[in-house]
Amino acid sequence: MTEHAAVHGDLLPRDLFARRTVFVTGGGSGINFGIAQAFARHGAAVAICGRSPERLDGARVALEALGGKVFARTADVRDAGQLKAAIDGAGETLGDIGVLVCGAAGNFLSPAETLSPNGFRTVVDIDLCGSFNAARLAFDQLKRSRGSVVFITAPMAHMAHAYQAHVGAAKAGVEMLMKNLALEWGPFGIRSNSVVPGLVGDTEGLRRISAPGDHARYLDHIPLRRMGLVEDVAQAAVFLASPLATYITGTSLAVDGGQGLPGSAFFNANGADLLAANPRA
Ligand code: COA
Ligand code: NAP
Repeated sequence: MTEHAAVHGDLLPRDLFARRTVFVTGGGSGINFGIAQAFARHGAAVAICGRSPERLDGARVALEALGGKVFARTADVRDAGQLKAAIDGAGETLGDIGVLVCGAAGNFLSPAETLSPNGFRTVVDIDLCGSFNAARLAFDQLKRSRGSVVFITAPMAHMAHAYQAHVGAAKAGVEMLMKNLALEWGPFGIRSNSVVPGLVGDTEGLRRISAPGDHARYLDHIPLRRMGLVEDVAQAAVFLASPLATYITGTSLAVDGGQGLPGSAFFNANGADLLAANPRA
């Protein structure tokens, strides 16, 4: 059994999301594309949006090869008009959206003191305002389908990371938005949760904040001693949207191999040194 199969296997029924429409913002690449594929493998009709038509076309072809219906429309999540056309179009073509995944995001490393106001605003606009736009515009469909929203956030939402002030602020906002929607939309039967990926190998997000040579060093700080796989995150998104999670709302699910356990890395190294110097007789 490969690591992929061992970790993920196709353990859930193939028709788990049959007759369900899943809309993934930023679904043309990386983790979000992996999420779209996972839902498609479990019978969903899948809709994706993003800014690059070429990227969306490639993703659409790959998703169609999995056998289900696919809808792809270029839309910038910051542009409510474009996003409304995509979300309405998906609902009209595939049926009401039953699962919305808000994954579109932007990132780069920048010291706060040199980051321009527009640079900060751009990331907040894409990640936070874009997530609100998608949820707000899909509300009527989610209400009819008694659906759920899964936000893709990041460890920076929960712990300060240097050169990520813009991302921390944006993703922390998404976490709070997730909780507010759980509170306000629960009575409509709509659940709202987030997945918090750690460091996911071979993704654009990781390339933007690290050099490939750094990855071996990261492993010492990840209790499970491996980088995340796209499928790790996809599996969590599928779980949160599935009937296995019908009473789960307002929850952040870390999929990070334990990386986010605050302070554990330096504390544990220090503790090991202390124990080595003063072993208990
Ligand atoms: N460091 C500092 N500032 C940066 C930057 C960097 N590496 N990259 C962009 N910016 C600033 C720009 O200078 C600009 O500010 P200014 O007008 O004051 O000069 C502002 O951010 C907007 O840049 P622009 O390139 O016009 O934005 P965009 O809307 O075309 O692209 C980004 C958005 C910047 C987030 C771009 O990196 C992107 O499209 N990312 C999507 C993919 C991605 O990030 N994937 C990982 C997901 S975690
Ligand atoms: P990615 O491949 O760059 O995914 C981002 C996607 O969002 C792209 O398809 C991009 O497509 C789309 N997008 C960006 N700006 C958009 C906009 N304004 N409107 C619509 N779509 C937009 O990067 P990734 O690493 O897989 O990241 C996916 C998600 O996981 C993000 O939410 C990220 O914050 C989160 N995450 C990643 C990691 C990691 O290790 N990679 C860790 C924690 C969290 P276009 O450019 O074509 O628009």
